[in-house]
Amino acid sequence: MPDNDKNEKVSLPFFGIPKILPYVKGYRPEILIMIVTGLLGSIIDVLIPLYQRYALNHFVGEGTLDTLPLFILIYVASILVTAVGNYINGYLAQKLESSINRDLRALAFRHLQTLSFSYYNQNSVGYIHSRVMSDTGRIGILFSWSLVEGSWQMAYLVGAIVVMLVVNARLALLILLVLPLIAVFFSIFQAKLISTNRQVREINSRITGNFNEGITGARTIKTLAVEQRIGKDFTDETANMRRTTVKAARYRGLFASTISLASSLALAIVLWKGGMLAAEDVGTFSLFMSYATGMMEPVRWVIDCISDFITTQVNIERLTKLLGTKSDVTDSEEVLAIYGDVFEPKKENWEEIRGDIEFRDVTFKYPDGEETVLEHFSLKIPFGSSIAIVGETGAGKSTLVNLICRFYEPTKGQVLIDGRDARERSQLWLHSALGYVLQTPHLFSGSVRENLLYGNPNATDEDIERALKLVSADDVVAKLEKGLDTDVGEDGSLLSTGEKQLISFARAVLADPKILVLDEATSSVDTITEQKIQAAIDTIIKGRTCVMVAHRLSTVRNADCILVVKGGKIVEQGRHSELLALNGYYRELYTRQYEDEATADVLK
Ligand SMILES: Nc1ncnc2c1ncn2[C@@H]1O[C@H](COP(=O)(O)OP(=O)(O)OP(=O)(O)O)[C@@H](O)[C@H]1O
Ligand SMILES: [Mg+2]
Repeated sequence: MPDNDKNEKVSLPFFGIPKILPYVKGYRPEILIMIVTGLLGSIIDVLIPLYQRYALNHFVGEGTLDTLPLFILIYVASILVTAVGNYINGYLAQKLESSINRDLRALAFRHLQTLSFSYYNQNSVGYIHSRVMSDTGRIGILFSWSLVEGSWQMAYLVGAIVVMLVVNARLALLILLVLPLIAVFFSIFQAKLISTNRQVREINSRITGNFNEGITGARTIKTLAVEQRIGKDFTDETANMRRTTVKAARYRGLFASTISLASSLALAIVLWKGGMLAAEDVGTFSLFMSYATGMMEPVRWVIDCISDFITTQVNIERLTKLLGTKSDVTDSEEVLAIYGDVFEPKKENWEEIRGDIEFRDVTFKYPDGEETVLEHFSLKIPFGSSIAIVGETGAGKSTLVNLICRFYEPTKGQVLIDGRDARERSQLWLHSALGYVLQTPHLFSGSVRENLLYGNPNATDEDIERALKLVSADDVVAKLEKGLDTDVGEDGSLLSTGEKQLISFARAVLADPKILVLDEATSSVDTITEQKIQAAIDTIIKGRTCVMVAHRLSTVRNADCILVVKGGKIVEQGRHSELLALNGYYRELYTRQYEDEATADVLK
């Protein structure tokens, strides 16, 4: 995984908070109510020992019950207020947690839709997945449960300390001596706990990564017979995870027992120094007993919440980094103002696309690539023509196609659509007029019909039938048990690659695009189907600009112009017969392939 926890550590404890505030500020009223009810609850928590003190001194010590009804009333009312406060806080915290989760996830997902191909090349699925799912989850908890607990317990601590100081400053200061002791233990354990927790997360993301690869690469793993090694890696990592989690549990346990030790110590101080007090002022004695024992648990909570705040900084950092990632390909403000964005297109301002494409002195290097793939490349593809791009593996064919589709933008130079720089119009404007059948076809989970409707949501069954027939995919669908309603599985895994190609071909045709891009669109179908598709292509391309990338040269014979690419440069160009007559690189490629196919035929 290119990115991991290590290079995203944050040094300053609350560094990330301001970055996330804009995303949660909509919940200010709820957060405020939560803090206020928390404060109210903690005031009552602080008052209870005072009530007890009054009851002991007044009712027991002085032996009068004159104020008992009022006392009971106030006591019950206080308890009711705490109960209501608890309810409001629990409800609001849960609501906030889920609302913040929902908002951040939706935002992250929406933002991911706007990012260009290079983001997905640079970041693994596992990495992106944990940004959208687990980071948002941790942030949701921070602004709900941690905040409510933290503020409630902190207020209780402050209140208890103030009351103790007012009632008996000497005894109070003695008890407070325990706090620095806790602080020392806190710094020791908490630092270790934070670092162990970080290790747990790092191991966890490695395990998720391994697991992802284990599933997506299951077939390759089987064919390479490396199950044992992959299995061992996985078991090693999970064992490592267990070890580290147990270590974290040990620190947590040690820390918890320190807290209870501190409680006992505080109690011992009260008994030792306050014993004398008990004789003359049993109420104050009981008050100190209550605070001494009740104070340490909040200390632990507050410390836990602070460490939550610290550790969640990493999650905030990573999520805000994702949300702040700018796509390599963006529409300018002026373009967005006219054409609208992906989510709110202003189709009324869109001009009709014709389909002229031109590369003007284009130099291109992939954002994360080392080498320049295209250099001073120029080419005109007039509307209605069909262009074929051929060349050996890695020659730059898909790169040309990616630039036409504006999945990437030229490093230098321009790609023009209908005579204007592609950047002068929105990406969606272009993509809406574009049909693209990929080298590696992708289908969504769902039925065949649902997949086809992605091409054109308004297509009728007749349109679908026609499109399927045109690309010879009708046989494929007829063979399927439930026809168009057959489930294709995740990424079409229940279909063969060739079948997937045909379906995605039909999907592209249904969209009725002005520009049709076929990148090895028929590389996985048999020769007979390919011939049928070839005939279909001749029909489909009428009235469209068509750019085809093909390995099998027999499929491009009919193209208006064949570009022979080598090392990102066009070395030859012309019609099939002209290129053969040139007796150059194309002829060499063609003869070699022809010979290969002839040999294959002989061997059959
Ligand atoms: N996302 C990427 N980042 C960096 N370099 C890339 C990327 N994609 C392709 N390249 C490089 O650009 C060059 C051209 O690749 P391209 O995919 O255009 O080749 P191609 O002609 O389509 O090959 P094939 O016939 O195998 O599909 C190759 O050297 C490749 O290594
Ligand atoms: Mg390619």
